[in-house]
Amino acid sequence: MRHLLKLLDLTTGEITEILDLADKLKAEHKAGINREPLKGKTLAMIFEKNSTRTRVSFETGIYQLGGQGIFLSGSESQIGRGEPIQDTARVLSRYCDGIMIRTFAQKTVEDLARWASVPIINGLTDFAHPCQVLADLQTIREYKGTLAGLKVAYIGDGNNMANSVIVGALKCGMSVSAACPQGYEPSQIVLEFATLCGGFEFSGNIRKAAEGADVVFTDVWASMGMEKEAAARKKAFAGYRVDDSIMQLTNNAMVQHCLPAHRGEEITDEVFEAHADEIFDEAENRLHAQKAVMELLMG
Ligand code: CP
Ligand code: NVA
Repeated sequence: MRHLLKLLDLTTGEITEILDLADKLKAEHKAGINREPLKGKTLAMIFEKNSTRTRVSFETGIYQLGGQGIFLSGSESQIGRGEPIQDTARVLSRYCDGIMIRTFAQKTVEDLARWASVPIINGLTDFAHPCQVLADLQTIREYKGTLAGLKVAYIGDGNNMANSVIVGALKCGMSVSAACPQGYEPSQIVLEFATLCGGFEFSGNIRKAAEGADVVFTDVWASMGMEKEAAARKKAFAGYRVDDSIMQLTNNAMVQHCLPAHRGEEITDEVFEAHADEIFDEAENRLHAQKAVMELLMG
């Protein structure tokens, strides 16, 4: 693994290696053991979209590994003034040991990787959120003891989270049932991968998706960059809320939400609070999973 651009690029073995190291780093951190495998190294962190979790977990993570993060906002750096990504890639590669980027187009991340001589980590694009789903897989394995054989239900927008959940879960031997409204399907390349992989079903029916599920995923109806569509999306997604009646159809499922959550839209306050421990463990695991990714890529 040279970069983390999307889960489609990773083998099952590579995902497992990240999860195993994430568990080890979490246990070491809780025990107060701080090896510093990235001592003296720096991670440039480019943000062209807002963030709470991704920024704080990467910056804290690189610090705990002995290195340092450098925050670059899209609007305040030359990126916001149109400096080409291939130049940014070559400049940052001369100073830093890795680059994390949160941006819009997946192509920007792929181009960055093509031009950089240091590892690139995708901190969210419109297409994928691989760091999030690695943390989610770590959390599910903690709660359930295993991944293979579990059923995942993904309910809601066929967005970056849907794309990454589908690929990550299938690669780890889980089955996935996704329910998204018409016109809001996951990416075609993901649907093709999932169909070839097997263990995947897709419909507009959220009850069918939830039936017998061990894990229920949902995400916001309007992602960052789609704010103008929010009103139209509220209408389209009205029947796609995870509530108690949906949870009753599951196999006593745990709930995963990458956050931020819009209570009363994609998830009711009752379901959110009943599963808050799982959701905040998921948020915590961003730190551990990303430390594993950084150690493997930059160590
Ligand atoms: N889940 C997630 O990526 O959160 P932030 O947008 O706060 O980084
Ligand atoms: N789908 C959401 C995830 C936020 C972490 C978005 O892209 O805004």
